[in-house]
Amino acid sequence: MVAGTRNLSKFWMLTNDFTQNPFPVLEHLRRESPVRELAFPDGGRAWVVTRYDDAKAALADPRLSRDIHVQYRLMSERIGRALTPPPEEANHLANLEPPRHTPLRKAISFAFTPRRAEALRPRIERIADGLLDRLADRPVPDLIAGYADPLPVIVIAELMGVPSDAWPDFLRWSTALRTHSPTEGSGELDRNIQELSGFMRELIASKEREPGEDLLSALIHADPERRLTPTEILSTGFALMTGGNDTTASLVGGVIAALLTHPVERARLLEEPGRWGKSMDELIRYVSPISNALQRVSTEPVELGGVTIPAGEVVIICVMSTNRDTSQFPDAPEELDLDRDKPAHLSFGFGIHYCSGAHLAKLITEIGARRLFERFPDLTLAVTPDRLRYQRSPVVRPLEELPVQLHG
Ligand code: HEM
Repeated sequence: MVAGTRNLSKFWMLTNDFTQNPFPVLEHLRRESPVRELAFPDGGRAWVVTRYDDAKAALADPRLSRDIHVQYRLMSERIGRALTPPPEEANHLANLEPPRHTPLRKAISFAFTPRRAEALRPRIERIADGLLDRLADRPVPDLIAGYADPLPVIVIAELMGVPSDAWPDFLRWSTALRTHSPTEGSGELDRNIQELSGFMRELIASKEREPGEDLLSALIHADPERRLTPTEILSTGFALMTGGNDTTASLVGGVIAALLTHPVERARLLEEPGRWGKSMDELIRYVSPISNALQRVSTEPVELGGVTIPAGEVVIICVMSTNRDTSQFPDAPEELDLDRDKPAHLSFGFGIHYCSGAHLAKLITEIGARRLFERFPDLTLAVTPDRLRYQRSPVVRPLEELPVQLHG
């Protein structure tokens, strides 16, 4: 039983209980308090949107901005110290609004097509098989550290044309980006980010001279009317890493765990491999790989779900809540139902910032889960499902560990 939402602590979203099982609290909020205030320990606050329709309205509202400069201004006011975003983060589509967002989005839509993602299929299979080879002899491998985490990082490195001898560095840099916080400087983090930036600049320069078949080369050698500046290309590389790695890792781990605990669905997918593609959106809705990645700042007062949010406030769109809203998913949204008809989940966002990597994310997840279950048909969890714990993250919803027995 969950106490009424009136009794929620002001830090309600930041508790470990919420991280481990957010759904009972979110169900109450959708019913009783669908746009709910949240306090942060540093004195800041946000408004959390939990209903599907309000979330869609928020994502389509130009008064709610994703512009990183607007967000940094607000943070600076709060901590009383001027902060400016680094160029790697200040010049990519995910952190800008029109008019600057528009040409950046056009450039990436042109270069990063579903066909380019699909062309990676054999390479994703090879990368997945290579990671599984390394796990094969371990008595109880952890599929998060050994598989779900590295798989998307290596695939995205491959997408960008990073040579394989730099993949270990890429894994290290990706971990550094994951823990980066603009208000807490850290020498170690800054050094990693500087290293990644230096590496990317050299990579871009080498592809200027000698283009390959990769996405960075396609951006660098685009037609003049679509060509980005070198800083924008560098920044777009950061967007692909920050937008693609943790999110996809969270999904791969979540889907594997879901299928380990749903043997009937797992058997269906293995018997009918053609079902993977059709089932992916339901798996994504059920797993909800991101928690709250969709954040905005109100540039004017905005009315949402009966609440007027003043200007200059943080708005969090709680995707995992919208994925279980009965107004959109009326039949037992808490269950995994591979026959659910085209579930229109919001896990990839909605509107102008809709995820550029959605096709690739689905492909990595399908191949990652399929190769694993085909190779180890007797795969079982090495702990009872109630022992699985989620990591605390404001953005994604990854499992801490997924220990398994590969041979039953
Ligand atoms: C399961 C995996 C993924 C999930 C759940 C996910 C989710 C999202 C969401 C929700 C947004 C919109 C954010 C907002 O409106 O505030 C977004 C944007 C974006 N995603 Fe993904 N993503 C995933 C994988 C990827 C991958 C693999 C890539 C690229 C390699 C990628 C690249 C991007 C980019 C560049 C944007 C910004 C688009 C824009 O602002 O116009 N994502 N993603």
